[in-house]
Amino acid sequence: FTPIGQDGMVGILLIWSGLKVTLAVTLLATLLGSVLGICTTLMKMSSHWYLRWPANLYVSVIRGTPVVVQLVILYFIVLASLDVDKITAAVIAFGINSGAYISEIIRAGIQAVDKGQMEAARSLGLSRGQAMKEVILPQAVKNILPALGNEFIVLLKETAVIGFIGGVDLMRAGEIIRSRTFEDVVPLFTCAIIYLMLTYSFTLMLSQFEKRLKQSD
Ligand code: ARG
Repeated sequence: FTPIGQDGMVGILLIWSGLKVTLAVTLLATLLGSVLGICTTLMKMSSHWYLRWPANLYVSVIRGTPVVVQLVILYFIVLASLDVDKITAAVIAFGINSGAYISEIIRAGIQAVDKGQMEAARSLGLSRGQAMKEVILPQAVKNILPALGNEFIVLLKETAVIGFIGGVDLMRAGEIIRSRTFEDVVPLFTCAIIYLMLTYSFTLMLSQFEKRLKQSD
């Protein structure tokens, strides 16, 4: 594997298209996960057991099994007859996976708000719903947003298992180059460095964002 010449060019293009897949799946899965996470949290807070029960089951099953198993089951069993492409299947699998974790992030973010806030709001005559909307959630958002950014970073690395269903993400691109060139070090370290550059820059952006959130305290 040489980064120059025709083979090298093919390798670089493969890595580049893999990188785009990794980023696209991560981004879309985080969005899908956020929607599912919010719905799950609402269901878990409901007073009806028939809403709470499926939400709790969803979170337990998803968090209790490896994401790679969920991905393979979804693609090869659940969506097998539907002719869904691999990238879409990956977005759905990682989105469903992330939803369970995000609902926990939201729950933790709400619980981290001092319970005196609810008591004070109620004693001022606000209903539970009003207190939630006007007092608790605006504060909880400050806990939730940074954690959501963290979830994005986790998911970015977690998508490295897309190769299990034959999707060509960044990791799989490196693996293909590795297997075709019998050169282990360069392709795998290239992948590692790209992942590191991505996670590191997102981490920096996130800590900037957190600083801005703290300023308004
Ligand atoms: N690697 C673990 C698993 O396979 C953790 C997944 C974390 N997922 C997430 N959306 N935060 O289950």
